[in-house]
Amino acid sequence: MVPEPKLLVPGPTPVPQAIFQAMITPMVAHRNAETVELHHRIVQGLQSLWSTEGPVILQSSSGSGALEASIVNACARGDRVLAVSAGAFGERFGTIATRLGMDVDWLRFPWGEATPADDIAAALRQKDYQAVLLIHNETSTGVLHPIPEIARAIRSLVPVIVVDSISGTPSVPTDIDPWGVDMVIATSQKGFMMPPGLGLVGLGREAQKHFRGEPSLYFDFGPSTTGQFHYTMPVSMIFALAKSVELLEEEGAETRYARHRLMSEMVCAGSAAMGFTVLGDMTRQSPTVTVIAPPDGVSNHDIRNFSHRHGLDLAGGIGQWADRALRVGHVGATGPLDMLMAINILELSLATVGNVPVDGRGSAAALKVWERHVKETEVEPVKA
Ligand SMILES: Cc1ncc(COP(=O)(O)O)c(C=O)c1O
Repeated sequence: MVPEPKLLVPGPTPVPQAIFQAMITPMVAHRNAETVELHHRIVQGLQSLWSTEGPVILQSSSGSGALEASIVNACARGDRVLAVSAGAFGERFGTIATRLGMDVDWLRFPWGEATPADDIAAALRQKDYQAVLLIHNETSTGVLHPIPEIARAIRSLVPVIVVDSISGTPSVPTDIDPWGVDMVIATSQKGFMMPPGLGLVGLGREAQKHFRGEPSLYFDFGPSTTGQFHYTMPVSMIFALAKSVELLEEEGAETRYARHRLMSEMVCAGSAAMGFTVLGDMTRQSPTVTVIAPPDGVSNHDIRNFSHRHGLDLAGGIGQWADRALRVGHVGATGPLDMLMAINILELSLATVGNVPVDGRGSAAALKVWERHVKETEVEPVKA
């Protein structure tokens, strides 16, 4: 038997069987009362997940399409926009705005740093901007940016705060109205544990008041805020999303956040014990992806290829870190056991391509993190 390849990249992530099962529900007419009702229920679930009274838009596109849609709804062509970047996805978001004809100013920080609230506020005070583009979880550097702190510092300085949380939410806290942000963008293939193809945008309670866009027919949020698709709904993805929201609710937000945090800590401890360098601000490590560099003289590409040949897909570095980094994904339906698998394959890779003897120090360090977590969280001893 050939084992199924394991996927530990920061999206797409493994899809639970229950979600695949939901996707093969027989096709329905997308304007049936039952389908419209299902859509409403999903939107309510997402409003609760994201703590917002504003509408939630679902659209058939990848995350990038939802980023594009967020800009064309918030801004008119030529509007001034501040793009905050400390990695590949910050660059991508600003580039999307530039291609759409916005007047983009860049506020760039070194890769791996967290974007500082005070500097963003200072930049916004310099000119009148219609929108600021922020990244919540920078998937290229493994840094979780402090969006609540940033939002507090800039709320009064700019009409529309747009947050790309594509690899963040719902694996990390995302509270739209309490944070005072206007748009949070997500996608199906990460924390929602679905195949790629659905973009999600949560709007803040007051967000639409500040929109100036004249979007294309397809990307217009206006009709969607009434709670229906204004084109043919990707019905199978909607069935999948209904199941995904159900699974997320069943697990509960706090348990989910703790699971992702635990995996991050395991990968950090395990890889550091083996001589990898954990990249990105250590005080702002992402709960969904860890970015590491192998010891000197060992190629990240060789490790990734070795790991792939042995059945486990890790992601490579991107952008500035393409020839330096490896990325271990712990987003979506992944757990601590998966992290032990990742650490073990890294150790075996290092032994093979880097000539470092295998002695289990990576998994020992990761297990210690897991042990501490179990002791702290499991009050009842498990009975035989
Ligand atoms: C932070 C971030 N933004 C944007 C994107 C682009 O999303 P998509 O590939 O779904 O278009 C990604 C994909 O990895 C991402 O991680």
